[in-house]
Amino acid sequence: MSKIILGIESSCDDTSAAVLQNGVLLSNVIAGQKVHEVYGGVVPELASRAHQQNIIPVVDQAIKQAGIRKEDISAIAFTRGPGLLGSLLVGTSFAKGLATALDIPMVEVNHLQAHVLAHFIRQKDADYNPPKFPFLCLLVSGGNSQIILVRAYNDMEVIGQTIDDAAGEAFDKCAKVMGLPYPGGPVIDKLAKEGNPKAFTLSKPQVAGYDYSFSGLKTSFLYLLRDHLKLNPHFIEAHRADLCASLQTTIIDILMNKLVKAAKDLNINEIAVGGGVSANSGLRQALEAQAEKLHWKIHLPPLAFTTDNAAMVAMVGTFKYDNQEFCPMDAVPFSKLVLK
Ligand code: KG4
Repeated sequence: MSKIILGIESSCDDTSAAVLQNGVLLSNVIAGQKVHEVYGGVVPELASRAHQQNIIPVVDQAIKQAGIRKEDISAIAFTRGPGLLGSLLVGTSFAKGLATALDIPMVEVNHLQAHVLAHFIRQKDADYNPPKFPFLCLLVSGGNSQIILVRAYNDMEVIGQTIDDAAGEAFDKCAKVMGLPYPGGPVIDKLAKEGNPKAFTLSKPQVAGYDYSFSGLKTSFLYLLRDHLKLNPHFIEAHRADLCASLQTTIIDILMNKLVKAAKDLNINEIAVGGGVSANSGLRQALEAQAEKLHWKIHLPPLAFTTDNAAMVAMVGTFKYDNQEFCPMDAVPFSKLVLK
């Protein structure tokens, strides 16, 4: 029997809807929110309002692009958390309304689990090589930096995570102090290609186990700029590419050191990455280099699935639908939701 899942994602500043038929992607529509750019970060109130404006056209487009009728949908999967509460409420309420109107079940989805399972989305005319369980997933985004041990689609353990800022936050905040636009990650990635990664030395954290920390690096970067700007007010413009390359290399070294340690300790060589920062070209190169050295099988998500998207939500919906794991109509979103 054909299983058609509509996914809805609204956890932060992207409104997205996607349709998967038996795990195969039929559509994935994402509306970003330019309104936050001038503020240098996501403004929660504005994000919820933009989701309200976008949700109906985005879902409508996803259904049309998939070439299905809304009556064909088997279940609606929606992001229940973690994320911004006002944003999550928009997607959750919409999912409830549509599920009630169509008289179909709802599936609640943990956003982090969705990033991990994005690797299982089948794309038409593309090779299909999903990770084999158990695998490690480095999940790096604007809000998270975690190493997750994935034993099964519904059995995940966070074995390491940031004790302060996330890797994406480090990219974004350091970009901001250099006067670069938001989000800073992609801009730094681009500029770093022209720079010398050894031009500046930045501090690396000493944190136990597989945990991360990025707040010290941020401060070290700020002090470096402050000290040089005292001597040369044009220091940033003159050294922008070198600053970006040095910062990016330091962030990647921090991420990779713990990932290598975890993989060695647990004797796992299936390694996946997910989240917005997994689009970083330097991180992808570092993963490829380690894969060659340590005989890892690495899984890099297609760029469309690195940032927030509803295809990954519909993928979790597909797994849960098979197990008949539906949620009640009184389900409410949570800004903090742990991974299990
Ligand atoms: O997963 P994501 O879309 O959502 C949130 O966590 O909200 O991740 C967004 C983060 C931002 O911090 C952005 O700067 C970062 O991902 N990012 C990148 C790149 N593309 C996006 N960071 C480094 N290099 C990139 N190419």
